[in-house]
Amino acid sequence: MKNVLITGGAGFIGSNFVHYMLKKEPGAKIWNLDALTYAGSLLNLKDLPDPERHLFLEGDICDQPLVEGILRDDRVDTIVHFAAESHVDRSIEGPGAFVRTNIQGTFSLLEAARKVWLDEASLPRKAVRFHHISTDEVYGSLALDAPAFTEQTPYDPNSPYAASKAASDHLVRAYAHTYGLPTLITNCSNNYGPFQFPEKLIPIVILKALQGLPLPVYGDGQQIRDWLYVEDHCEAILTVLKSGRIGETYNIGGNNQPTNLEIVEAICAILDEYIPDSSHVPHKQLIQFVRDRPGHDRRYAMNIQKIQTELNWKPAEELSSGLRKTVSWYLENEPWVKSIVEEKDYQMWMDVNYTNRSDNS
Ligand code: NAD
Ligand code: DAU
Repeated sequence: MKNVLITGGAGFIGSNFVHYMLKKEPGAKIWNLDALTYAGSLLNLKDLPDPERHLFLEGDICDQPLVEGILRDDRVDTIVHFAAESHVDRSIEGPGAFVRTNIQGTFSLLEAARKVWLDEASLPRKAVRFHHISTDEVYGSLALDAPAFTEQTPYDPNSPYAASKAASDHLVRAYAHTYGLPTLITNCSNNYGPFQFPEKLIPIVILKALQGLPLPVYGDGQQIRDWLYVEDHCEAILTVLKSGRIGETYNIGGNNQPTNLEIVEAICAILDEYIPDSSHVPHKQLIQFVRDRPGHDRRYAMNIQKIQTELNWKPAEELSSGLRKTVSWYLENEPWVKSIVEEKDYQMWMDVNYTNRSDNS
């Protein structure tokens, strides 16, 4: 791993991974290709450790000649592919962008890798890796008493987002099987932590609570997610990159099962403690049950035995401490928050998703 192409490295997990990798891999140089959609920000890449080993390139993963040029000219040996449209609610409003970036974009990256790495043999096959970052949502929804998803669970995606990620996973598998492209796939549960765009549950609740606005809980709030602190995800990815078996898939998760309502209440309690003089204490009073997400998956849970036993990885952060760190980060990073919430695009999304939603029928 000398020359690494990270796609989507200005987004939430990708930027955390850039910080993490520069810290942990002193020999690695990073090319960060990101289209800077609404979800990407250069502010996520400020104060990088050892910034001269990081080069930001604004561009689209669907631009195959551009990607081929980077792979060839910079002798890239590792691709870590985060770039995606990632928000389920937006995929319900407008699925087209998800098909383009998540399916077409992954296809285009795979084709570039096939051409430069395999056809042109720019580097020995054993020296290259294509690591595809995916999600637990490809497995569908679990009943309350069903066992957690394993790597053998059949795909059963429900939202346009999940379906587009499932399609991209299948393409990656097919390139490994058909062309012998050295691939790795990781499927991870819900991440949270610094730099998460405030359209996802945890940051949106923190920011709305600070303003004394209603905290929108979809449906009955009894949906269950498996939450992973983002730095743990970064550690898991690096572990798989270094020691994972080529062609394999690894599930990653946080080993917890709170309901959405429990998460929202936990955030409210942390805010009560951190800002006791706020006029919104107790923040819990702001919770509002709103109309459910169409096709809302009820429960996700990840069985992480494979990565744990094979690669000796498990999450380090407890949910309670991770949530405290996350709330602190949003309180301490007002300029970052301001730069996003003042964007017209962001305000438009808030209107589209939340106006008239309080009619919970
Ligand atoms: P994000 O939405 O915060 O960031 C996505 C990044 O990709 C942005 O910087 C955006 O500008 C960039 N991008 C979008 N389209 C692009 C294109 N066509 N070309 C180049 N760049 C483009 O997403 P995230 O939450 O950081 O998720 C990263 C990856 O991890 C995604 O593949 C997602 O499916 C997966 N994942 C996310 C979670 C989670 O909880 N957030 C959990 C499991 C897996
Ligand atoms: O499971 C992994 C997935 O987690 C990733 O693949 C996705 O990229 C990521 O966005 C995330 O998807 P979710 O739909 O689970 O995340 P979100 O934060 O949007 O929602 C978490 C839960 O909270 C979900 O059950 C819906 C609910 N929710 C969400 C929002 C935005 C609310 O109740 N109110 C809200 O306002």
